[in-house]
Amino acid sequence: MCGIVGYAGKNEARLVLLEGLKRLEYRGYDSAGIAILGDGIIVKKAVGKIRELESKIDGVNLSGNLGIAHTRWATHGQPSEANAHPHSDCTGKIWVVHNGIIENYQTLKKWLEERGHVFKSETDTEVVPHLLEEFYEGSITKALQRVVKMLQGAYGLAVLHQDEPQKLIAVRYGSPLVIGLGDGETIVASDVSAIIRYTKQVIYLNDGEIAEINSSGLKILDFDFNEINREAQKIEWDVSQAEKNGFSHFMLKEIFEQPKTISDSIRGRLVIKDGKVKLGGLDNVIDKIRSIEKIIIVGCGTARNAGSIGEYMLEEYAGVATEVEYASEFRYRKPVLDNKTAIIAISQSGETADTLAAVKEGKEKNILTLGVVNVVGSTIARTTDAGVYNHIGPEISVASTKAFTSQVAILALITILFGRQRNLSLAVGKRIEEELLILPDKIESITRQSEKIKKIAEKYCHFNNFIYLGRKYNQPVAAEGALKLKEISYIHTEGLPTGEMKHGSISLIDKNFPCLCIAPQDSVYEKNVSNIEEIKARSGKVIAITTEGNDQLNKLVDDVIFIPKTLEMLTPILSVIPLQLFAYHVAALRGCDIDKPRNLAKSVTVE
Ligand code: G6P
Repeated sequence: MCGIVGYAGKNEARLVLLEGLKRLEYRGYDSAGIAILGDGIIVKKAVGKIRELESKIDGVNLSGNLGIAHTRWATHGQPSEANAHPHSDCTGKIWVVHNGIIENYQTLKKWLEERGHVFKSETDTEVVPHLLEEFYEGSITKALQRVVKMLQGAYGLAVLHQDEPQKLIAVRYGSPLVIGLGDGETIVASDVSAIIRYTKQVIYLNDGEIAEINSSGLKILDFDFNEINREAQKIEWDVSQAEKNGFSHFMLKEIFEQPKTISDSIRGRLVIKDGKVKLGGLDNVIDKIRSIEKIIIVGCGTARNAGSIGEYMLEEYAGVATEVEYASEFRYRKPVLDNKTAIIAISQSGETADTLAAVKEGKEKNILTLGVVNVVGSTIARTTDAGVYNHIGPEISVASTKAFTSQVAILALITILFGRQRNLSLAVGKRIEEELLILPDKIESITRQSEKIKKIAEKYCHFNNFIYLGRKYNQPVAAEGALKLKEISYIHTEGLPTGEMKHGSISLIDKNFPCLCIAPQDSVYEKNVSNIEEIKARSGKVIAITTEGNDQLNKLVDDVIFIPKTLEMLTPILSVIPLQLFAYHVAALRGCDIDKPRNLAKSVTVE
């Protein structure tokens, strides 16, 4: 999410740090900051993009050979200068940049405040410099070795101390850090893209390692003071590839990120022993939620498709009447709303004009408005009464992938919250949570099939029409799969409820009109098989997505892609992955501009 860069060397740190921040900007872009150690420490921060920080330091004497910098994607606290990194202790001598989450920061903050520390930001990060101050006895490395044992969560940290002007310290636990070994300079960053311009010799830190960095190199230590020897590796990527971590497109990178983004979406939110969830962003409306009898989900495109899955979940597990509306239509209807109705607005960007208009309409009618939004501090996040952030980092590819699966996971959490206030049992709440926890490994087992899916794409990429079919929880997945292929390959597609196909669209079927059927072994499997038989009887080609171990479909259809078994309500998080990969490979084979499809925009801020 956030980006870190640190520099120790013979050149002006400012230049390398600013260049590094620009390379990391895609990770987060709500605010940025820099600390340079020259004659004393100078710190500058700005809200907005890196260019705001650049204009702020234009003309300022920021000379020095050691420094740290950060680009932020807000998690705790709104984007503001006070919340922007680097953060400091009470003396202003220790400065820290952080990527990740300190989960026990509230306990640590309380303990530090009792000992007289004064906090200037709302961030979780700020506990780190204050803890370092508390334990500093002349060596920042030793202080850090004590502090890391107190931290829970995930972190990549870079730290400097004014009284140790030759030293930069970095530590990794759960958030990536890589160190570039240049000629008379050493650079640490959360991503090689910030380093690659200066050196291709890098060392990746492992979890539980501390790097003591100076201009001539580094020493790696574990948390118990043991020194670790590690050979440098050579990066083969060029600068533009590095931003995509070696993937050919952001879309593919984001598809492969999904095991992590699902973990990030649910992290710290499950209370498994009680079968409950903790959604801090809904705390202020928790009693109001108790009285809600009807939910209207609004969104556009992919976000709406995710909402349709939420509709099935909320009705089946929470027992709350739910409907899904195109956000662009909501204000033209005359929906029946009362004070027992809530709107859930789903939006990755938090800026989609149609979704925002629906939220405003709800506010006008004085009903509860909730958001499921990825971009922290975005307009929809600020306009809704309460909400849940996705926490999946920036989604750069116009075709949404990781946002969709995260939205479905968050809707599952919201379903548990509503359900446990009503009739959902502890056992079922717990079961859903346990399954959510193991989904990342299951997603990975599907992304590993990318090459196999590419082979299937090679067989089908010349067709100009496709129908996608799915029932119940997978009906919206059919719509989403069809949207993915349409968006990036410009192939005409339709996504339909499987049962609806025989009421008209079946007339299209022939050997040149393939169908993609989502048919996992769930409560509607047999019905799906009957529909597949109907297509095959009309010489239609069928690619099926089904559950691992089901060998029944091999004989019936042309190609099969297997996904692991999971709870029926969570299958969309798995069944959509092959469809994302299929769309990607077809578009790549057709030579399309995958990350920037024609006519589309990532965030549509006009009606
Ligand atoms: C645009 C994008 C879609 C996205 C939709 C809603 O149409 O191209 O990929 O699903 O907007 O965006 P949002 O940011 O509100 O989720």
